[in-house]
Amino acid sequence: MDAKQAAACKAVEYVRDGMIVGLGTGSTAYWAIQYLGEKVKQGLQVTAVATSAETESIALQCGISIVELDAVDHIDIDIDGADEIDGQMNLVKGGGGALLREKIVAAASREFIVIAGSNKKVSLLGKFPLPVEVIPFGWKHTAGQLAVLGCDTSIRKKGDEIRVTDNGNYIVDCHFGSIAEPAVLEQKINSIAGVVENGLFVNMATRVILGHEDGTVQVIS
Ligand code: A5P
Repeated sequence: MDAKQAAACKAVEYVRDGMIVGLGTGSTAYWAIQYLGEKVKQGLQVTAVATSAETESIALQCGISIVELDAVDHIDIDIDGADEIDGQMNLVKGGGGALLREKIVAAASREFIVIAGSNKKVSLLGKFPLPVEVIPFGWKHTAGQLAVLGCDTSIRKKGDEIRVTDNGNYIVDCHFGSIAEPAVLEQKINSIAGVVENGLFVNMATRVILGHEDGTVQVIS
């Protein structure tokens, strides 16, 4: 069991019969879906909400039933990965491009468990380029406004084409280098016209599970 698998396996231990579970996106969340699928095959009853089309498809293959977020009034536990985690459990997310749905699902959740290899722990956020989901209309102008906040920007691509999110938008990756005040930056970015949401998750995580390469985990809450 590697670091991602260890963290994912531990997170699934918190899921109880009858819960509504948020399923994150990415290579670590993938393992949580696999482990949850195993428990479902053994009789655990859960309803799940997916944070991306990719996750929905993986979950269905694992025999996990998926409903739309609006079909439930809350989520008991959301399990998702992160690109960076600081000492206050603030996050950068969206490396996989699913940050908007991930943030909506996390906001609807009573518990938000972040799972990651311990290499994702940082003292200061921002080395990983901050993903910002923007409306395609006028995206270069929106990126220009983001640059004014003190970053270099690049448009997310898939091959030669601009990558389109599950919501029909684009992602601008913002290279800040370091982010001293995540809460302030999160609000500043979201006040720019054309921005839908950004990948700073401030004061949202309730528990962080870091996996180590030897298969052990550290739970922070
Ligand atoms: C998906 O959009 C992201 O927020 C992922 O949760 C994040 O990039 C972590 O992905 P990995 O688990 O693949 O590192």
